[in-house]
Amino acid sequence: MDRELTTLVEALYARGREHDARQADRLDRFRNVEPDSARLLALLIRALAPRRLLELGTSNGYSTIWLADAARAVGASSSLTSIDVDPARTAMAGENLQRAGLDDVVDLRVADAASILAGSQDGAWEFIFLDAERPAYAGYWPQLVRVLAPRGLLAVDNVISHADEVAEFRRLVEADARVTQALAPTGAGVLLVVREPDSM
Ligand SMILES: C[S@@+](CC[C@H](N)C(=O)[O-])C[C@H]1O[C@@H](n2cnc3c(N)ncnc32)[C@H](O)[C@@H]1O
Repeated sequence: MDRELTTLVEALYARGREHDARQADRLDRFRNVEPDSARLLALLIRALAPRRLLELGTSNGYSTIWLADAARAVGASSSLTSIDVDPARTAMAGENLQRAGLDDVVDLRVADAASILAGSQDGAWEFIFLDAERPAYAGYWPQLVRVLAPRGLLAVDNVISHADEVAEFRRLVEADARVTQALAPTGAGVLLVVREPDSM
């Protein structure tokens, strides 16, 4: 990430924190991923060079900028689809991506995570960042593992900060022989899950 974009994301993150501190209702907060976790995801994208990336939970586009910048660094064959159920958030994300000069890298959509997953082909996504409403994650698991490409990486945020809310999801992942996982204790805790290559 170049210096200009670094300045932009730092300012966006700081404004997001200020905004969130003023909101009484958790759902009104942007709840941006911690910068260290965003940096880790961007590094993984650069290393793995996935071509088809999916983000579930765009919010105002903070994490999307990190993922899109890394996808652009990978090359023209790499593209990111980011979805959120909230049209106002998606509009904000569009403006932030435009400011960052990354709007051409991202297909922003207003959609429900469950319907995007259900409508994706087997092995459709080589990288998925899951950062939406945690109680729904266990219900997503059968579709998440189905749409994850062989050697594809799924990253799930907040598994340490909200361990109780993702406990059932983590049990499902742990019991599934089609994947290998590791917990990165970065930021709010990022669970990394890789689909075994011979498990389709
Ligand atoms: C934690 S925030 C995402 C933060 C964002 N990834 C970032 O780091 O900047 C969660 C977002 O998920 C969205 N969301 C909640 N339920 C959803 C669903 N079922 N499908 C898609 N998006 C959903 C919310 O509107 C909210 O913007």
